[in-house]
Amino acid sequence: MILLAIETSCDETAISLVKRIRGKNVRFEVLSHKILSQVDLHAQYGGVFPALAKREHAKAITQLIAECLHEADLLVERSNSYHIPNTERKKLEAILEREPEMFAAMKVLVEGIQKPSIDAIAVTEGPGLPPALWVGINAALALHTVWDIPVYPVNHMEGHIIAGLVSQVDGVYEIGEMELPACALLISGGHTEIVHVPKLRSYKVIGKPKDDAVGEAFDKVARMLGLKYPGGPEISRLAEQARKESIVVREELRLPRPMLHSKDLFFSFSGLKTAVLTRVKNIPEMDEKTRKMLALEFENSVTDVIVAKVKQALYETSAKTLIVGGGVSANNHIRFALKHLAEAEGSSLFIPNRNLSTDNALMIAGAGLLHIANDERPRVKLVAKGSWSVGDC
Ligand code: KG4
Ligand code: ZN
Repeated sequence: MILLAIETSCDETAISLVKRIRGKNVRFEVLSHKILSQVDLHAQYGGVFPALAKREHAKAITQLIAECLHEADLLVERSNSYHIPNTERKKLEAILEREPEMFAAMKVLVEGIQKPSIDAIAVTEGPGLPPALWVGINAALALHTVWDIPVYPVNHMEGHIIAGLVSQVDGVYEIGEMELPACALLISGGHTEIVHVPKLRSYKVIGKPKDDAVGEAFDKVARMLGLKYPGGPEISRLAEQARKESIVVREELRLPRPMLHSKDLFFSFSGLKTAVLTRVKNIPEMDEKTRKMLALEFENSVTDVIVAKVKQALYETSAKTLIVGGGVSANNHIRFALKHLAEAEGSSLFIPNRNLSTDNALMIAGAGLLHIANDERPRVKLVAKGSWSVGDC
């Protein structure tokens, strides 16, 4: 079976085509995998601008699907002229009512090629920016209408869990076996969550932020330091340089470790962000060395808090496995610290390759295949669920 996966929850338009391989675990081959990032466009606003994200997704998605089909050798052009039958055309028009440009592109695609041998579609239904989510959902519903392919809605955060669990050997991807129960740490631009995983498809959020998500804090602090969006990789780069140069953080630039000793699984990064702002305001002139110190101290603070909370969560849930996912899991220092923690606690660690840490459609494909392997039902009534918790998916 071949599955098309669509991800548009934030600022990446991502499409993957995968082929399921029969076997005990969920295993698949990747036929095509593409990500179109809008990062440079949003950089001028210092963050993701939802209306712009929606417009860019709508502009790009049909072409990206066509490119993936082509790469996967699934695109066969029609030799004769074909027009979508009237009833289907009307349905398509209704689905893409608010995206006339996308309707036109879809019509050209569907009328120009033969129905590809795709057996299922997996699409991110939430959480994320609703206008952006709608583009992916509507693309999935449009293809469902014209090609009669079942659609499986996927929770983006479950996708990040799956990205952590997927391993690749000789081109075959597999959702690995793990000792249960597990704990998942999900750290991204919109989320900081610790999730208890007694088994796959069964998730309970046990740790969350009182305010900003960790990626959001990285991005905002980066902005204070005059670094470009997204700030995570920028801060990480400066902090690494500071470590290499053995820079010692000046006393007045030290930062708190918020909620470190709170004995619960809540995070709060807003105070840390304000602490950085206060330091920045007290500096007469920001030089490169000071910037490195603040980046280093911020990254260390976040890492200390994350490690302490995860350690407590592993203890509270008696988890044997730690799964990590989300854009911030691309951070070298945090990766290293979590590896160290897992070793010390005797837990196995599942962490995505850096290219699967940030948003992509492969993780949505993996989650979709998992739902199918579990005999779950497809759905046609889809709505963008901006704040859909992984605990309810
Ligand atoms: O998972 P993701 O791609 O999108 C969301 O679902 O939010 O995460 C994006 C976040 C951004 O806040 C970005 O700054 C952060 O991940 N990020 C990093 C690194 N790479 C990306 N944060 C810290 N260190 C990194 N190397
Ligand atoms: Zn994400």
